[in-house]
Amino acid sequence: MYPYSHEPFTNFTEEKNIQAFKEALAFVESELGKHYPVIIEGESITTEEKIQSINPANKEEVIGSVSMANQELAEKAMQAALAAFETWKTWSPEHRANILFRAAAILRRRKHVFSSYLVKEAGKPWKEADADTAEAIDFIEYYARQMLSIKEGVPVKSRAGEYNQFNYIPLGVGIIISPFNFPLAIMAGTTVAAIVSGNTVLLKPANSTPIVAAKFVELMHEAGLPKGVLNFVPGSGAQIGDYLVDHPKTRFVSFTGSREVGCRIYERAAKVNPGQIWLKRVIAEMGGKDTVVVDNEADLDLAAASIVYSAFGYSGQKCSAGSRAVVHQDVYDVVLEKAVALTKTLTIGNPELQDTYMGPVIDERSFKKIMSYIEIGKEEGRLMTGGEGDNSKGYFIQPTIFADLDEDARLMKEEIFGPVVTFCKARDFDHLMKIANNTDYGLTGALISNNREHIERARQEFHVGNLYFNRACTGAIVGYQPFGGFNMSGTDSKAGGPDYLLLHMQAKTTSEML
Ligand code: SER
Repeated sequence: MYPYSHEPFTNFTEEKNIQAFKEALAFVESELGKHYPVIIEGESITTEEKIQSINPANKEEVIGSVSMANQELAEKAMQAALAAFETWKTWSPEHRANILFRAAAILRRRKHVFSSYLVKEAGKPWKEADADTAEAIDFIEYYARQMLSIKEGVPVKSRAGEYNQFNYIPLGVGIIISPFNFPLAIMAGTTVAAIVSGNTVLLKPANSTPIVAAKFVELMHEAGLPKGVLNFVPGSGAQIGDYLVDHPKTRFVSFTGSREVGCRIYERAAKVNPGQIWLKRVIAEMGGKDTVVVDNEADLDLAAASIVYSAFGYSGQKCSAGSRAVVHQDVYDVVLEKAVALTKTLTIGNPELQDTYMGPVIDERSFKKIMSYIEIGKEEGRLMTGGEGDNSKGYFIQPTIFADLDEDARLMKEEIFGPVVTFCKARDFDHLMKIANNTDYGLTGALISNNREHIERARQEFHVGNLYFNRACTGAIVGYQPFGGFNMSGTDSKAGGPDYLLLHMQAKTTSEML
């Protein structure tokens, strides 16, 4: 087995890669409109109620539909997962990991096809889609190796005449609730982490991006995953989400999504229901209000680029998005001017075209929410560029910069999850750090500075799970920058990190007298 290193991004300056990607897009185009069933114990179940998946760049285009699971099917899936757990947990870590290695190999072969689904279903431009697929491959490769590295447990001491061991065993049935913004990477990562650790799961994908999840479930079975280990149950939160979170046989919930839903899950999962003999675990990755901080001694072009790319990559729909720029007063005007100029060069439009930097936002609800924040921004700050939306064909919003916000303004505190960044001026480094930490969240942050002392101070004082220096605050790489945040950003479960699988396991100590 070769050592883990992350999947390289596709070089889209090479003609052969451009052609291959276009062919994959054409292939996906020919697959549009198909139906994908609920999958329980390997069995396909088509239901009356369906979710239609729509291209957010072109509302008329249906990507496909998926059957929705009701409570009865959710219960059936739970029973299937409980039964499968009894055998799956006895599989050796090697055999479980082998399925992941096969899955990674298949996904690598079909890389551009999966990326094309991301373009179509999630509105990701080529580069963002390619990065999402690469990250999915990384999670699969990384967690497979991670399982092999922890299979012997951790050595503990034994006294004379005694043999002690400390091992990790799986938990049971997990509910995986995945987000729309990394509909392949986070969906696949959270699913395979649970599975390779010996658990069985019910996967409920985001309702706006269920097709790419259905494709992934097919792929896992193709790779050899036994029936019942991964059950696919698209559905509404109200109908089956709560039901499964509350279920006495649910052992853990792995959720990525909004703060509101994450808090609801955390609270419901805390309640011990009749028939339940454990305390549920919750892994929650929620929101962010992430900041790019610019010091007075800094490369100002780098600062502007870091702000712009952190804010507008995938239309700002990343929990890691840099939605606030907090800039030292000495350089504020220059950085603002450079950021506005750079933003005006970005190409906005159809994500299927190679040159598009930014596509649409995911749906009508997001569009309206973001546009309402833009209205608030016009009251709270000074609109520098953007500010317009157009939802006639797809859900397009211009990359938008507001300047001169008060440090306590709503746009400085509330997660927008769209292409909006707010500039706020600070007096000195103390003030920069104070504003950087003034939200309920604590996911990512960046400091652009050439001042060594300030970099070291930020290392201590800037309270975020992922802190970056002299670069953007998005784009964590599996196995390189384990990803997860503090405070209302979630349970700081570091995805793509060395202790992530342990969250899906429990430790058992055995002690034998010799
Ligand atoms: N891991 C992603 C990033 O770092 C966000 O989910 O941008």
